Order: sequence, then structure tokens, then C-alpha cells
Amino acid sequence: MNDYLIKLRELREKAIQGGGAERIAQQHARGKLTARERLALLLDEGSFQELGALATHNLTDFGMGKQRFPGDGIVTGFGKINGRRVAVYAQDFTVLGGSFSEVQSTKICHIQDLALESGIPLIGLNDSGGARIQEGVRSLAAYGEVFTRNVLASGVIPQISVIMGPCAGGAVYSPALMDFIVMTRRASYMFITGPEVIKAVTGEDVAMQDLGGTMVHNAKSGVAHLVAEDERAALELVKLLLSYLPQNNTEDPPQIEPYDPAERMDEQLNSIIPEDENEPYDAREMLDLIFDRRSFTEIHPYYARNAIVGFARLDGYSVGVVANQPSHLAGVLDIDSSDKIARFVRICDAFNIPIVTFVDTPGYLPGVDQEHYGIIRHGAKVIYAYCEATVPKISIVTRKAIGGAYLAMSSKQMRCDLMLAWPTAQIAVMGADGAVRVLYRKELAAQGAQALQTFEREYREKFFNPYMAADLGQIDEIIEPKETRPRLIRALEVLRTKVKQNPPKKHGLMPV
Ligand code: HXC
Repeated sequence: MNDYLIKLRELREKAIQGGGAERIAQQHARGKLTARERLALLLDEGSFQELGALATHNLTDFGMGKQRFPGDGIVTGFGKINGRRVAVYAQDFTVLGGSFSEVQSTKICHIQDLALESGIPLIGLNDSGGARIQEGVRSLAAYGEVFTRNVLASGVIPQISVIMGPCAGGAVYSPALMDFIVMTRRASYMFITGPEVIKAVTGEDVAMQDLGGTMVHNAKSGVAHLVAEDERAALELVKLLLSYLPQNNTEDPPQIEPYDPAERMDEQLNSIIPEDENEPYDAREMLDLIFDRRSFTEIHPYYARNAIVGFARLDGYSVGVVANQPSHLAGVLDIDSSDKIARFVRICDAFNIPIVTFVDTPGYLPGVDQEHYGIIRHGAKVIYAYCEATVPKISIVTRKAIGGAYLAMSSKQMRCDLMLAWPTAQIAVMGADGAVRVLYRKELAAQGAQALQTFEREYREKFFNPYMAADLGQIDEIIEPKETRPRLIRALEVLRTKVKQNPPKKHGLMPV
């Protein structure tokens, strides 16, 4: 072998070794895989093409002359997932704690540019101690280059981030600008300032996981969208997410071979709504009976559980699903569930995924906190997102559609293409008790509790059904619950070629 080849092979081998055997052993001891091991699990075998494996940090930087790591703590390139092309980067914690450098940025930006130009999804595996301290402002500027590209790619190509270790400081904002964040249950955390700084500034004492651990961001802050038990499961979730998404916003999502009969009707649906209108039921069970079997994947399952969002399939086609969840806070619309729904609707719209909405909500949540923290602004996001969306939209009112929430949850006026209702639907301006107290205040004062019941019964007979709405053309069809699946499939078949555009503009001003 000649010297040229020997040198190349040595450098390549060094790049593959990352921070060396000892660091790799430490990484494994923490229950974490290396960047290359993660990519091997994520990508189809033999499909990875690496770029920038030999790029090295500036050796004249503060204290950096004594060591040389080809690749500089990040592995970037292109590969395939189930035969579909993707751009990937994986930070390598074994090299300088995966700290983010100018070279890392140049490598990520290169694949971001190529991914955007080629219209293929971007996946980032994060495991880093943040901005490389030795590079000073250069590493800060380097983040900015990545953020800009995240924003330009937003809504054009799917962007998925997996947090597999630390993600601190400004590093959190690249994942936050992407479409989905998956976190592994242990060892991953995100925060803009760590426990020590918080202690110094505010005096609060908080542990790392309590500050920015997996469940904090999945259940409380809503920053992350999915939890995985371990790294393998996290990478499987990425593959699952991609299976519902197109390569870019000019394509439709892939259809898989249908495996569940389109005409299947499940009798159980006809009795899923309890006789007692205030009794909760689990909307998840309802969804599982309607969509292609086992196809429903919930997004944000721990956050704002009064609403459900997720992807499913109907006759093999991807659909986005939004549903109020009556078994949690009666399915009320509050600040967090409004954010959750609005964001998901916009993701579906960006990526040409039809939206199916199931409505059973008593309305927007009343309360001083809700008003003071901006339920008006946040609630408006739901209206904005549904009105703006041009993908096929179908709604099914299963029970309560009361007040503003009836309108917001993809009503006809929000440019819904087809409104269906079950016979159990209740479509009214407000609940019976409140309405009667406003309308019959004088009569109630004179006649007492007996009259209240009579007036309420009359009100319910008049409004707590779908027939007035159907009479007025606000509901297109009242169907038996078990007919929902075939009805949806037939409707989506028609709507598949729907063309609708919004007026030209630079961008709208969504209430944020
Ligand atoms: C340079 C870093 C580094 C960093 C870690 N290392 N973070 N080197 N810059 N930001 C190095 C360590 O010196 C160490 O090298 C090796 O990586 C492994 O780190 P350890 O501390 O031994 O690992 P661990 O105990 O697991 O702790 C991990 C950690 C800790 C919690 C992430 O390293 C840490 O607190 N790092 C700093 C985090 C941080 O504050 N980052 C800056 C955020 S501000 P040796 O050779 O000694 O083993 C920011 C601003 C960006 O990112 C703004 C953009 C807009």
C-alpha cells in the first residue's frame, strides 16, 4: 500500500474512534451509545455516506493544540431510512463533550443546505455540552448559522431532533425550531441555564432532571413531543414519524399497502358515548376503532391531555388526528391544549396531511388564570391554524360542541370540507344550566328549582342534538358512529385532489 492510502486510512480510522476507547467505555457505562452506533441503528444498513469526517478544529484555539480529533465531535452525512433519503447529524459526546464548534456548525449547515435543496428530511441526534468554551464568540455565531437554516427549512422539509444527552444553553433552540423533539427517558435534558446558575441568580435549588428532564418537557413545558424508553426506541420513533410524513412540502406522504378493510364498521362505536352526558369516555379507544388498526401514533401524549393529536392511517393513507379528550378535564380547551392543537394542525397543513377532527368539548376553560395568561391569544391560535389550513379537513361532532369551541374546532366557517355528527351530538351556544339562568332569570326567581328543571329539559330538547345544525346546513350528515370509518375513507378519496390556496402574502401574523 502506498503512503497516500496509509495516511487516508489512518485519518479515517482516527475519525471512527472519536474520543478514544476510554471515552467510548464511559459513554457506554452511562447507558449511552456513540454517535456512530446511533447512526448505524437509525439508517438502512450500508446507506450512510459521511461528509466532513476529517474536518478538525482550529489547533491554535485556546488550549486546543494538544489534541486533534478528525470530525470534531460530530458525524454528518446522508443515508436512507426504509429506502427514503435523509440528512443526519449525530453529536459525539466522546470528543470534547460533543461541544459545539465552528467546524460542527459548518458541517451541519452543509447538510442542512443540501437537504433543503434536495427536499429531504433532516434528523439531528443531540448529545453535547453546548457552545465550545475555547472558541468564544465563534461558537455562538456558529449556532446562529444553524438556527437560520432550521427556520428556512421549517415547513419545507421535516426536521426531527432526538435529545440523547445534555442539550444546554442556546443549543436548545435548534431542536426547538424543528418539528418534533424526541427525548430518551434517562440521561437527556434540556435547559437554557443549568441548576448552578439558577441557584446563583434566583436562589432556587433544583436537580438537573427536575429542571429540564424528559418528563418535564414532555408533560409540563410541552417543549418535547415524544418519550422513548431508551436510545433504540427513540430511533425507532424517528422512523415511525417519518413513515407518516412526505419527503418535503411538495410531495404527498407515502401510502402503505392497505391492510384493514375500508368498509369495516365496529359495533362498539355505537355505544361508546355514555348515556349520561357528563360521564367521560376515552377518546383514544374511539380512535383505535376507527383508524387502520394499530396505526394511531399519539404526539405529545403527556402534555395537555385534554386534547389528543397524532398521526394515523385510513386505507393506508396518512391523516392527522385531533380530538378533545373527555376523560381529562372533560376535554375543555385551555391555553396548553390550544397551543398543542394549533401547532399540530399547522404541521399537517405544511406537509399535505389531511386533518380529521373529533369534537367533544364543553368549550374554552373559564377562569381568572386562563384569562390572565392569555386564553384569548392562545385560543385564537386554534382558529387561526384551522382557518389557514388548506389540506382536506373533516370534522365529526361526537358529543358536546358548545360555544366558541364549536366554531374553533374545525367548523364549516373554519373552512372545514365536511362536517359529520353522531346522533349524540349537542351543538349549542352554552350549557343548559347557564343558558336557562340567563334566559329565565325572572321566572326562576318566582318559581324556584322546579322551574329550572323544566326549562333545562326544554332547552336540551331544542339544542342538545345535531338536528338543528343539520337543518341549517352546518352539519352535512348525521351518521351512526360505526359508519365513521367508511365515511371518512370515502370523503378523503374525493378530497385527495382538493386544491385551495390562501391569498398571496409574505406571511400571516399568527397570534403567538
Ligand atoms: C468545551 C466541554 C464543554 C463545552 C463539556 N466539555 N462541555 N468542552 N466546551 N461547552 C468537555 C469537558 O471539559 C470534558 O472534557 C468533556 O467535555 C466531558 O465533560 P464532563 O464535564 O466530564 O462530562 P459530564 O460530567 O457528563 O458533564 C456534562 C455536562 C458538563 C453537564 C454537559 O460538561 C457541563 O456542564 N458542560 C458545560 C455546559 C455548558 O454550560 N455549556 C455552555 C452552554 S451556553 P475533558 O477533556 O476534561 O474530559 C451555550 C450558549 C450557546 O451553549 C448560545 C447560542 C445562541
